[in-house]
Amino acid sequence: EKGGWSSFMAKEITENPDAVANTVRGRVVDGLVNVPELSELGDDVLRGINRIILIACGTASYAGMVGSYAIEAWARIPVEVQLSHEFRYRDPVITPETLVVSISQSGETMDTLMAVKFAREAGARTLSICNTQGSTIPRESDAVVYTHAGPEVAVASTKAFVAQITALYLVGLHLGRVRSTLADAELRRLARELQELPAKVTEVLKTGPAVAQLAKWMSDSQAVLFLGRNVGYPIALEGALKLKELAYIHAEGFAAGELKHGPIALIDHGQPVFVVVPSPRGSALIHSKVVSNIQEIRARGARVIVIAELGDASVLPYADEVITIPLADPMFEPILAVIPLQIFAMELADAKGLDVDQPRNLAKSVTVE
Ligand code: F6R
Repeated sequence: EKGGWSSFMAKEITENPDAVANTVRGRVVDGLVNVPELSELGDDVLRGINRIILIACGTASYAGMVGSYAIEAWARIPVEVQLSHEFRYRDPVITPETLVVSISQSGETMDTLMAVKFAREAGARTLSICNTQGSTIPRESDAVVYTHAGPEVAVASTKAFVAQITALYLVGLHLGRVRSTLADAELRRLARELQELPAKVTEVLKTGPAVAQLAKWMSDSQAVLFLGRNVGYPIALEGALKLKELAYIHAEGFAAGELKHGPIALIDHGQPVFVVVPSPRGSALIHSKVVSNIQEIRARGARVIVIAELGDASVLPYADEVITIPLADPMFEPILAVIPLQIFAMELADAKGLDVDQPRNLAKSVTVE
């Protein structure tokens, strides 16, 4: 039940810290990530994988994009993300060394289910990342890593998204250990940081009132743009999707590097643009490129709202609004940066008097192809 909350979505956003904590729980043993469900595939099989294809739809596909950066960096396996309905009908190259990882909150999304069956018949190993025990997709897969976000009632996915990303980090760190692509000290540091994430998510939730105020001011916006780079790119896409589905506002997410290849033409006086700024502690170069992007759009009149890590003063001179997130390993930032965007979309929809739990034309699980 909703308890004292105004909507299921409001309740589920506050459950983000638990979604991360419960998904990690029991999967760090003696300081190292160990996901027993993955071991079921066999360590030899995991060592022999030469390609990973993540398949999903919508928000889950953006979780997959975040995961693709992490798994590739940590396990040194080529990883790509494909939308289930595109993968299924493109005649993909699949071998027994291909691991196809489906990501689905409901476990019933027909597009993803059909893609999993197809992958299995084509000879791939299949792993499901799923939030719903006993649902169809896990039953059709060789192994399943459950996310433990708890039941998600609001149509728009929030805590399940954060749990999906968490599960993908676990997969990346498990593979990094089994394949010896990460040093022991690094495996331990990342596992520890993962366990520290829930407290940081709780910290970000405190931006709620300020973000709600911003959403009220912006409730008559015609279009909102979102920019991100590296692991911030899928978060820009997710911020835009949340705004479309909840507030019925035209919203688009871009890779910040694409700006000059077209989208900058959209920037006009007063155009609101959210920018997810990567940590300067990750790549100083990427950080400085995004700061330049901010200067470019500001010079053309954009209203810039930045999401940046605490203490990143470089963005202050060019930002109209700053939302800060706590310091974390740069790979883990998506989990923190997405929270204000979830709140923003919900609050803006609420300010427009819309039903945030039941947006028009949408169903919680899409069980037709
Ligand atoms: C957006 C949203 C959808 C789902 C997508 C996949 O907020 O909820 O984009 O993420 O329909 O659903 P699952 O994860 O159940 O396969």
